[in-house]
Parts: sequence; structure tokens; C-alpha cells
Amino acid sequence: MDRLVIKGGNPLKGEVTISGAKNAALPIMFATLLLSKKTILHNVPDLKDISTAKKLLEILGCGIKYYPEKKICVVEPPEFPELEAPYNLVRTMRASILCLGPLLAKRKSARVALPGGCAIGSRPVDLHLKALKKMGAEIEVVEGYIEARCDRLKGAHITFDFPTVGGTENILMAATLAKGETILENAAREPEIVDLANFLNKCGAKIKGHGTAVISIKGVEALSGTTYSVISDRIEAGTYMVAAAITRGEVYLKNVPICAMDAVFEKLREMGVFIEVLDNDKVKVIGDDSIQCVDIITQPYPGFPTDMQAQFMALMCTANGTGIIKETIFENRFMQAVELMRLGADIKIAGDTAIVRGGRKLKGAPVMASDLRASAALVLAGLAAQGTTIVRRIYHLDRGYEYMEKKLSALGAHILREKDD
Ligand code: UD1
Repeated sequence: MDRLVIKGGNPLKGEVTISGAKNAALPIMFATLLLSKKTILHNVPDLKDISTAKKLLEILGCGIKYYPEKKICVVEPPEFPELEAPYNLVRTMRASILCLGPLLAKRKSARVALPGGCAIGSRPVDLHLKALKKMGAEIEVVEGYIEARCDRLKGAHITFDFPTVGGTENILMAATLAKGETILENAAREPEIVDLANFLNKCGAKIKGHGTAVISIKGVEALSGTTYSVISDRIEAGTYMVAAAITRGEVYLKNVPICAMDAVFEKLREMGVFIEVLDNDKVKVIGDDSIQCVDIITQPYPGFPTDMQAQFMALMCTANGTGIIKETIFENRFMQAVELMRLGADIKIAGDTAIVRGGRKLKGAPVMASDLRASAALVLAGLAAQGTTIVRRIYHLDRGYEYMEKKLSALGAHILREKDD
């Protein structure tokens, strides 16, 4: 296991290039199970989650090659995919559940390990299963596995109780090869869903309304293959914007999906962070000591993303005043708070609400990462803290941030990866 050793306290300066979006690349990779022809994906980030998805797709019968230096993934989908997604992979990456919809649509049968809970909450998949049942699937949970079968899936009118991102993606994929039309209401509107739908449409799917709360999908007989470039990662971009602000630095970011980041730009500006849009995908971010705490409520897109909540908490610890953060998406997503307190932060948690009293001079300490975004928050706090911060369990970080310590080093951070004892 590795750890990061950070000597904090110096402002970041320079330019960083944002990678492809993990949360867009994963569903698109699983969507290749629906296809009949080879597909070439560009801008696929070199991450642990991508190699887990690759392993799972190989088990399911895909021929798949990933070229990390070019960020290209080439997938040859099998005519008849294998049916089982084993627990040892699903438990390391919950997004593996995204093979369920494609397998049912293509093979009319699937056996996918039921993902358990995780550090940030119980995270059930009941909404995925309810929707697939409405499309004609019979589903049972047997020995920890979702066993699903159907004749050809049928189009259905589905209203989600909650705009689930993974649920919307799973049903969107399943519906592309279903008989007839599927209407998804209260669908999630995340940019990664739009990217998935654009990809599928390029392969011959008939999807409309993606990016709105009502998506319609007319089922087709088959989907071909295509060449497609995955969007860039709005959460990675937001994390580097916070890195600039928390170190009171001046950072240029390239490949920023600006249109997908309104809520994050707005909150940073409300805090007093200087953001200049220089081009359609390039921004300059400057932080200084006048930054103020703000109130934040996490919400489904286009609201403020839960995946940026932990990083903003770290930033607010160093800002002036007091801010309130309400987490409405996951029930247990303040795991970073107690670790930030080890660096000297003043945070009180009451249920889904955190009160952050800012103006703290953070001091380095050993801390433990609990999940992907909490890890990022601890790295950011370590960059701002005086002295040395050691972040343990960074395998979480490797799941979702491409070459983070290299990118931060290039911006002038003192950050080293070491083997942990
Ligand atoms: C995706 C993202 C994750 C992000 C989250 C919310 C990927 C790979 N992951 O996760 O980074 O934090 O969206 O923006 O894209 N829920 C149910 N039943 C269900 C499905 C979800 O109760 O069947 C609940 C979950 O427990 C959670 C909430 O709905 O509390 C949101 O989950 P969902 O939108 O499905 O998130 P994911 O797709 O898991």
C-alpha cells in the first residue's frame, strides 16, 4: 500500500491538464457490451477503476486493449457476452453494476454480484432493479448475486423515485435494445449521462432528451461501433481549482468542461476565488487570504455536486468566517471531517449538516483516507498545512485521480509517494 507525504504551505503555480472523466468513461466502457462492432475510445484516463472495468469486460468476453500513454481504449465486443460479474471485482468497484442493463439487453440473462454498502453510505441498487422489472425482467437475489432474466426487454414508462445517476445509465443502456419505447422520468441530468447517450446515439441508438429530466429511448435491433472521445472530468477540474484556492496560488487549467461546472464556479466565486475563463476549455484560478466561507447544499446535477463537497470543506477550513454544508445525496459523506480536525480544522457534524469554522492555520499530521473524494480533500488540506502531512490508504485516490502527485508536483507542490509500512 502507498502513502503520500506532503510538505505543505507553498502556493501552487503553473498549468495543469484535466484528464478524461472516470464517471463518463466507465458507463461508456460497459455500454460496449451492447455493440456488435469494434469501438475506439479516446480520452480514457489511466486509473485503477478503468483497469477494474477492463478486467470485468475481459471476463465478460470482450477483447480489450488500453494504451495509457495515448489514453485510448479499444474494445471488441463479443457476439455472446459471458453472463457473470463476480463479487471480487464488483466489491472493489460499485460501478460494475453498470454491466447489468447491457447484459440483460444483449443476452436476456445476467448474474451480477450485488454491490454492498461502502464508506459513504448504504448505496442500494433497488431503483435499477425496479426499473428493469418494469421492462419485463425477472430478478432474484441468490447467494449475494442479482440473477436476472427476461425475454427481449420491453420499453416501459419509468419514473425514478430519485434521479439516480447509475440507475439512469443502466436503464438507458438496457432500453437501447429493448422492444419499443422507454420513457425515463425524473432521470438524472449529469453531463456523464449526456456523454453516454451521445456515444450510444453515435452507435445507432435512438435516445432523446438526455440532459433533461425526461429521456426517451426507442429500442433498435442492433448497435454498431464507433470512435468516440470521452468528456473531461469536471470533478478533477474542480479539485485542482480548489487546490489553487487553498494554497493561495495561481493555476491555469486546460481541458476544463466549463459548461458542466456552473455550480462549482459559482460557489468558488461566491467565496471570493478569482476565476477567469480564457478560452472555451481553459481557466485561470487565483486564491488569496480574503476567501470567505459559504453555505453549500449538495444536490443532483445541475446542483452542487456531492463529489466536490469534501474538497470545499477543506477549503472552508482555511477561509474566513463560518460556513454550513448540507449533504443530501449520501448519508455518510463527512468522513474527511475528523481527519481534517487532526490538521487543526474546526468542524461540527450534526446528521447531514456540517458547520465549518474557518480561519484555521492548518498544521501537518498523519491522516487516513476513507473514500475517493475524502482522500482528495486530505491532500488539498495537506498542501495548505504548515509542515508534513502523511495521507495513508491512497488506493482510494488512485481509483479516480490520474497521476495526482505528478500533476501537483508540476505545479510546485512538495508531494511524494512512498510505500507504507
Ligand atoms: C454516481 C457517481 C458518484 C457520485 C454519485 C452522485 C459514478 C460511477 N459514480 O454514483 O461519483 O457521487 O453518482 O452524484 O458515476 N440510490 C438508491 N437506490 C438506487 C440507486 C441510488 O437509494 O437504486 C441512492 C444512493 O444510495 C445514493 C443516491 O441515491 O444515496 C445517489 O446515488 P446515485 O445517483 O445512483 O449514485 P451512483 O450512480 O452510485
